[in-house]
Amino acid sequence: MRKQIVAGNWKMNNDLAMTESLITELKKRIKTSEAEMMIAPAFTNLWHAFEALRQSDIEVVAQNMHFAESGAYTGEVSADMLKSIGIQTVILGHSERRAYFHETDELLAKKVNTALKNKMRVIFCFGEELADRKSNNHEAVVKNQVTNALFHLDADAFKNIVLAYEPVWAIGTGETASPEQAQDMHAFIRKTLVSKYGQQVANSVSILYGGSVKPNNAQEIFSKPDVDGGLIGGAALNAEDFMAIVNAF
Ligand code: PGA
Repeated sequence: MRKQIVAGNWKMNNDLAMTESLITELKKRIKTSEAEMMIAPAFTNLWHAFEALRQSDIEVVAQNMHFAESGAYTGEVSADMLKSIGIQTVILGHSERRAYFHETDELLAKKVNTALKNKMRVIFCFGEELADRKSNNHEAVVKNQVTNALFHLDADAFKNIVLAYEPVWAIGTGETASPEQAQDMHAFIRKTLVSKYGQQVANSVSILYGGSVKPNNAQEIFSKPDVDGGLIGGAALNAEDFMAIVNAF
């Protein structure tokens, strides 16, 4: 059985006080859920969030990290630093990292390797831009992103990989992929995994959908057979909305 996951990507939002109060609100609303819950606050608030959620069902994860183990990389954060404060999972390849910080498939492959070497779990994001979809290139683009960054790995590594399909045109725009568009792409990704790693591995990898998931559309999207959860941006900044999405399973 694949894991169902709902992860909240807080992006560059919430200072320490806001982090504290959002976590308090989340804790009030936690119910036992089939789905694993995660939140990804900013680096400065990870330690506090980790401590505040230590005894809870919500895992605290990082939004990014560097590929090097340590050294002269001003402003960056390493896997070891994250692990030293209890962080076990990192989001890599978010489209905002790709677009604004020029993260390429090649760089992301290095980050993935470093995370796995450090026994961390990776939520690997990818997705096409609007022009790719309009020109009917969306499957080819996504296939390239996934194969370039991940297909050097052995099958065993996929125990620690979660995939997150996030069409760029749906992120923060209020425009969601339709449940059918999400299902079609997730099935395509799974088929791509089958061709390289076989059915068993492909069936075991959770594929999340991200891009304007809200309480009013989560249930329909999550009901699709190849959609195993969501990576939530805007709606994760509100405790009630985030928990409503978790409870959509
Ligand atoms: P959104 O962001 O839910 O605000 O569209 C999703 C994401 O960037 O992960």
